[in-house]
Amino acid sequence: MPDSGDREDRLLVTAALPYANGPIHIGHLAGAYLPADLFCRYQRLKGRDVAFICGSDEMGVPIFLRALREDRDAQDVVDEFHAQIEEHFARFGMSFDHYGRTTSETHRETAQGFFRALAEKDALTLRTAEQLYDPEAELFLADRFVRGTCPVCGYDDAYGDQCEDCGSDLSPDELIAPRSVLTDAEPVEKEATHFYLPLDRLQADLEAWLDDAASDWKPNVRGQVQSWLGEGLRERAITRDLPWGVPVPPGVAEEAGMDPEGKVLYVWFDAPVGYISATKEWGAQQGDPERWKDYWQRDDSRLIHFIGKDNIVFHCVMFPAMLQARGGYVLPENVPANEFLTIEGRKLSTSRGWAVWLHEFLDDFADRDHPADLLRYALASTLPETKDADFSWEGFQNRVNGELADVLGNFVHRALTFCQDYFDGLVPPLRAPSEEDRAALDALAEATAEVGRAYEGYRMRAAAQETMALARRGNKYFNDTAPWHTRESDPQACANTVHVSLQFCASLSVLAEPVLPGAAAKLRDMLRLDGRVRPSTPEGDAGDNDDRIGWDDAAAPILDAGHAIGTPEILFAKVEDQTIQQQMSKLGASNAASDAAPAESPPAKTPAEAGYAPLKDEIAFDDFMDMDLRTGRVTEAAPVEGADKLIRLQVDLGFEQRQVLAGVAEQYSPSEMEGRRVVLVANLAPKEMFGHESQGMVLMAEDREGRLTLVSGEGEPGAVVR
Ligand code: 2FM
Ligand code: ZN
Repeated sequence: MPDSGDREDRLLVTAALPYANGPIHIGHLAGAYLPADLFCRYQRLKGRDVAFICGSDEMGVPIFLRALREDRDAQDVVDEFHAQIEEHFARFGMSFDHYGRTTSETHRETAQGFFRALAEKDALTLRTAEQLYDPEAELFLADRFVRGTCPVCGYDDAYGDQCEDCGSDLSPDELIAPRSVLTDAEPVEKEATHFYLPLDRLQADLEAWLDDAASDWKPNVRGQVQSWLGEGLRERAITRDLPWGVPVPPGVAEEAGMDPEGKVLYVWFDAPVGYISATKEWGAQQGDPERWKDYWQRDDSRLIHFIGKDNIVFHCVMFPAMLQARGGYVLPENVPANEFLTIEGRKLSTSRGWAVWLHEFLDDFADRDHPADLLRYALASTLPETKDADFSWEGFQNRVNGELADVLGNFVHRALTFCQDYFDGLVPPLRAPSEEDRAALDALAEATAEVGRAYEGYRMRAAAQETMALARRGNKYFNDTAPWHTRESDPQACANTVHVSLQFCASLSVLAEPVLPGAAAKLRDMLRLDGRVRPSTPEGDAGDNDDRIGWDDAAAPILDAGHAIGTPEILFAKVEDQTIQQQMSKLGASNAASDAAPAESPPAKTPAEAGYAPLKDEIAFDDFMDMDLRTGRVTEAAPVEGADKLIRLQVDLGFEQRQVLAGVAEQYSPSEMEGRRVVLVANLAPKEMFGHESQGMVLMAEDREGRLTLVSGEGEPGAVVR
């Protein structure tokens, strides 16, 4: 994967088109939209050419159903929600290059053109088959018009196209005891003629492509795709009898011998083509109607689809098959689908009111600075990247208060205030830097590379956490170098601390931009840097001639000595307990108010509620791998004079002997310790205690009553524990 900002790379990034039948909630954001936005903002800062495409999915049964239920025109429904979703996304900071909609003229032409091209290539088949029909509503019951028992898992409320419980892809005639969603009638069978996409015929080509392309996809995505292919692909109807949708293109039906009356394209045929139509509209709006081809039809374009896991088959099998059958289009380089987000330990359910709506969050937190950043950071730090993840209001509060305010905000405020108070607001020069100063400056380069690697590898959580780790590093450096002491005793050391700390702030104002665009801009404003940094939005895409500060510049000091900074302000105010309680009550109230069945399981207890030590913040895998744990055998144990709780141990690590002071004297006598197998943290800096050097730490488990038990390290001494 390229990791330098070469403009030849063209990135076409899509985020799933949301159905315009309801507002956006945090499950949507965590599934597709936030990761896509983080990725695009990072790529733009790298100087890459990005087209970030999304839009409203306005066709299909979900829309038509809402219209029927509310006795409205479907067009009226999509007009309302398209406008809402677009506005809410903008307030959340989604940096789309274009947000389109599938009721547009361009989309109708593009989807029909795609269908026609496949028909002309003989890539479609026409077939007449029995289909479920609601005699009362006089409608064929495709997809979500029918519900029944899932033949795979027995869930009794599966949709006609998918079981929400086990995720199986279904067709209406597979459902056991089907019933019409419209009238509750028992469906009858009636013949209908439709176009099909013969996926069975396309399987070999798909496999040939996937063998190579999918090798570095996320295991959760690859697993689903393999299971589909393993079952053998079946042909799939791509037209519907429905009063709402993109009409089957004129002429094509007649030519194939089908009556076109009432026939529309299947929503999963037209929606992904919506990515192409939106790209066309974008190019046209830029005055270059052919521009879309650079992204869709040139080999050097990299197509990446951000989606939630329920869309995997459509983006990894069906749409690629359509693109392959059509020919001349790029296929996805990656489909980094996320798993689901739970809320307070329960499955998100809009019908049961168990959801956090984006617009409500933005309204409820509107009196704060950059409210979207709070949600962006809290979600980015807990994205369901490899497995389902949970959003809790307590977790949200901890992220905001303990990390955004206490770490990032606090560090920035201290550094800037110190510069204002003692250096007249001018960045002091760095002279004769100490080891500590130099190591801190090196950390800028390391963090810039590390966070960048995380974004390139679709590890957005790690990217957010590593960004915060840099602020934490800055805070520690500021503490350790104690400029309030050196101000008198060593003014040059003090100046160096302020210089280095301000460079941290400047780099953070770039590296934090994808996750915290609002706060990063404010920080740049305080540093008097705004305007000098390339925006991570489409406005930042000035091509090769852009000499503004970008991602890679954050690796080295950005601020010149003598540069005048502005007035420090608080970046993040803390979220009070009362605010969190209000949000919890709101969630509970909407859940109670819903007339559906109560949620299936009580919320999971937090460790603290169950009397355990609270779980610490998640760490990066590499941080864990930095720890060297070894098995060892205690060869000698002796009391430590003056320390009732300690025992001095000699531990055989196989390759060497260590002396370790362990706080186990209340649980174990020295003689009980001799011969024990233990696990030792073997790369901990040595520490002087009671006149003895302790060269490591013996691991112990502490229960809820504070009792300690040795963690046993069976096996050969010196073995690596991981
Ligand atoms: O699941 C959904 O919300 C769909 N509207 C996603 C469509 S993605 C794309 F193919 F358009
Ligand atoms: Zn099922």
